[in-house]
Amino acid sequence: PTGTRYEAENAVISRGAVENNHAGHSGTGFVNGDNVAGSHVEWTVDGTAGPATLRIRYANGTTTGRPATVAVNGATVVAGQPFGGTGAWTTWATATVPITLDAGANTVRITANTANGNPNLDYIEV
Ligand code: GCU
Ligand code: CA
Repeated sequence: PTGTRYEAENAVISRGAVENNHAGHSGTGFVNGDNVAGSHVEWTVDGTAGPATLRIRYANGTTTGRPATVAVNGATVVAGQPFGGTGAWTTWATATVPITLDAGANTVRITANTANGNPNLDYIEV
């Protein structure tokens, strides 16, 4: 199962904007984070306690990776998710990260590690 989809355009954005100028995104757009370290998107997702699969849809039209920190409920799960180049801003890829959820509301935050910022973020599925 792919889980429940949570669009980035409905999440909390710190330093970035919702845009829709690159085709292939889900929903009404995607988040173009500012190209600075520390810019992030935070989703609140419903969970049942225990292991889960986090899927992150993104695009990176450059040839340089955009490593980011993936945190669940404030705890780092992956310190450097690579988010490598996808070939074009219109080419979307999915990264899969195993996580552990609490029952009820959980936060998932993706924070840019470098001055290149995050890749464009389309949605997560949990
Ligand atoms: C381009 C692209 C944006 C992207 C940005 C970046 O401006 O159109 O969607 O976010 O590059 O390098 O982060
Ligand atoms: Ca950007």
